[in-house]
Amino acid sequence: MYSEKVLDHFSNPRNVGEIEDANAVGQVGNAKCGDIMKIYMDIEDNVIKDVKFKTFGCGAAIATSSMATEMVKGKTVDEALALTNKAVMEALDGLPPEKIHCSVLAEEAIRAAIEDYKARSGEVTEDKNKCDFCCKRCQIEEK
Ligand code: FES
Repeated sequence: MYSEKVLDHFSNPRNVGEIEDANAVGQVGNAKCGDIMKIYMDIEDNVIKDVKFKTFGCGAAIATSSMATEMVKGKTVDEALALTNKAVMEALDGLPPEKIHCSVLAEEAIRAAIEDYKARSGEVTEDKNKCDFCCKRCQIEEK
């Protein structure tokens, strides 16, 4: 059911913990199951020097969080923003279909942390005014 890589990252998750003086923190909840992921980053000159996570969730969520943090460490914030849950799942040699929603947690937490970093540095991100369930009303220009 689970690949060797998923089992490895679940049994020995990389980058677990907190960064005390993190300059980017993101927390997201999975609307489908209520699980939570919090991610901490140490970003210097737009490069992710260190990243740690805490996931209160299932094994698939822990494995995808572990792999996603490995994939963004050392990358620029723009490279990290381009990371998709699909790419993380591919790096783990796949997930069972009913666990695909678990992989979204890491992608969203990384995005939330980077938005936090940009907000702290005074840069407003594109998604800043969008809610979780975007109805696109905010993008309709008043006539
Ligand atoms: Fe909640 Fe997997 S069941 S993240």
